Amino acid sequence: MPKTLREVYNGFAATYEQNRGLFDMTEVLGHFYEALSIKKGKLLDLGCGAGEPFARFFADNGWQVTGVDFSEKMLTMAAKYVPEMKTVCKDMREVDFAPQSFDAITAVYSLFHVPRADHQSLFEKMHRWLNPKGCLLFTYATKEYTGSDEFDGYKEFLGEKLYYSHKTPKDLYKDLINAGFKILSADYRAIGGETFLWVTVRPD
Ligand SMILES: C[S@@+](CC[C@H](N)C(=O)[O-])C[C@H]1O[C@@H](n2cnc3c(N)ncnc32)[C@H](O)[C@@H]1O
Repeated sequence: MPKTLREVYNGFAATYEQNRGLFDMTEVLGHFYEALSIKKGKLLDLGCGAGEPFARFFADNGWQVTGVDFSEKMLTMAAKYVPEMKTVCKDMREVDFAPQSFDAITAVYSLFHVPRADHQSLFEKMHRWLNPKGCLLFTYATKEYTGSDEFDGYKEFLGEKLYYSHKTPKDLYKDLINAGFKILSADYRAIGGETFLWVTVRPD
């Protein structure tokens, strides 16, 4: 029986220091920040982990940041690296916020751990939580990472088996449009030797 994702990430927190900076996200962070019309507001980071580099970058730029993660150990790391971040220790599918609470939402290397059957409803919630002038950025797994057009299963990462799930990019775009988003960019990026689709959308 594989460990749950929460158990795996609680374990990763112990070795987090060794793996810090494994992924250079300077370019993707800059690209997203440029896409934002609001340059100072409220950020929601879903699956925030230790809060680096996204929540840290936004906090440094004067944003109020809220992070959601179901790993209490990762949130202990976040308290060290982004002490000003408000955190919620919950599954991202179980949280709720008032409409238009955030000017930007990020889900960096986290949404692909959520079963694809739940993606559409999560996109609908994000659309509701987002300021109409705000933007959402997320990392999506595709065939380039899992080897399959659609995937629900386990892949090895840093010596552990982790659950990943994704649809085809075409079905992902349908979900986003049905949730009320306009797609601003969708780029394959190889960061730290791993290729994922980086998607930026805004309410249409
Ligand atoms: C690869 S880490 C990425 C962390 C951070 N976003 C970053 O870029 O460094 C994935 C994070 O998502 C969290 N996570 C995965 N599935 C989640 C879920 N359903 N709800 C909340 N957090 C989740 C994990 O606990 C972990 O901290």
